[in-house]
Amino acid sequence: MNRSSPGEPLTHNDNAHHELIIRVRDLDLWYGESQALHGIDLDLYRNNVTALIGPSGCGKSTFLRCLNRMNDLIPSVRVKGSVEMEGRDVNDARTDEVALRRLVGMVFQKPNPFPKSIYDNVAYAPRMHDLVSRKPDVDDLVEQALRDAGLWDEVKDKLKQPGTSLSGGQQQRLCIARAIAVRPEVILMDEPTSALDPISTATIEDLMDRLKLQFTIVTVTHNMQQAARVADYTAFFHLGEVVEYNDTKTMFSNPATKRAEDYITGRYG
Ligand SMILES: Nc1ncnc2c1ncn2[C@@H]1O[C@H](COP(=O)(O)OP(=O)(O)OP(=O)(O)O)[C@@H](O)[C@H]1O
Ligand SMILES: [Mg+2]
Repeated sequence: MNRSSPGEPLTHNDNAHHELIIRVRDLDLWYGESQALHGIDLDLYRNNVTALIGPSGCGKSTFLRCLNRMNDLIPSVRVKGSVEMEGRDVNDARTDEVALRRLVGMVFQKPNPFPKSIYDNVAYAPRMHDLVSRKPDVDDLVEQALRDAGLWDEVKDKLKQPGTSLSGGQQQRLCIARAIAVRPEVILMDEPTSALDPISTATIEDLMDRLKLQFTIVTVTHNMQQAARVADYTAFFHLGEVVEYNDTKTMFSNPATKRAEDYITGRYG
C-alpha cells in the first residue's frame, strides 16, 4: 500500500508494481525571493509512468528538474527538503551530478538533437561515460537504443546523416534513443509530444508503454487524454503544491479534490 501524502492514500492497483524509486519529502524551491514549490511530498514507483499535470506555471517543470538537479544550472535557485533516489539524497554534496544525470535522463518539449549524425547522437553519451569504447560494442549499443526507441527501421540505412534531417517525431524518438543509450534508471519527459502531430504523438505514447518495462518514466503533459492513456499514476500540481496524487484511473474517474476535478474536466487551466 502506498501513500502519496498524509491523508491521501493511493488505491491499491493489483496490476502495477509498487517499488519505490524516488522519494520526495517536504521539498521547497525558490527562484530568488519567489517560492515556486511548497512542501512537495511524492513517491515515484519503478517501472511505472507518472504524469504531472496542472495549469501553466504551477511548477511541473521546476519539480521535474529537481529530480536530476537541472535546477543547479539556474543561479537564483534555492532548494530545501529531500529528494531520495534509491535511498540516496540527490542534493547531497557528495552526489556527483554528472553521474546523477546519467541515471536520470531527460527529454524536452522541443526535439533537440545534437548537430551530429544520427549515429553520433546516440553514441556520444555512452562513449563519454565510458560505457563502451570498442567500435562493434558502440555499434550494438546504437542499434539497440534505436530499436528500443522504435526508430531503427527508419534510420538504419542513413546513420551518417545529421539528426536534424529527420522529421520532428523522428527527432524526438532520436532524443529518446539518446536518453536511453546510457541505461538510465529514470527518464524525465517535459511535454514530450506537445510539438508533434497526432501520429507521432501516438507513436511516442506507445513507446512510453514499452519503455516503462525497462525504465521509470515521469512525464509532464497538458493533454488529459494522454495522461489517462499512458500514466499509471498522476499528480495534480497547483500553485506549486501537489494537490492530489493517485493512480490515474482513480484520479480521472473519481478525483478527491474539487481543484483536480475542475482541471481535469477543463473548467480551468
Ligand atoms: N528560470 C526561472 N527563473 C525564475 N522563475 C522561474 C524560472 N522558471 C520558472 N519560474 C517560475 O516558477 C513557476 C513555475 O514554473 P514552471 O516552469 O515550473 O511551471 P510549469 O508548471 O512547468 O508551467 P508550463 O505548463 O507553462 O510549462 C512560475 O511562476 C515561473 O514563472
Ligand atoms: Mg513546464
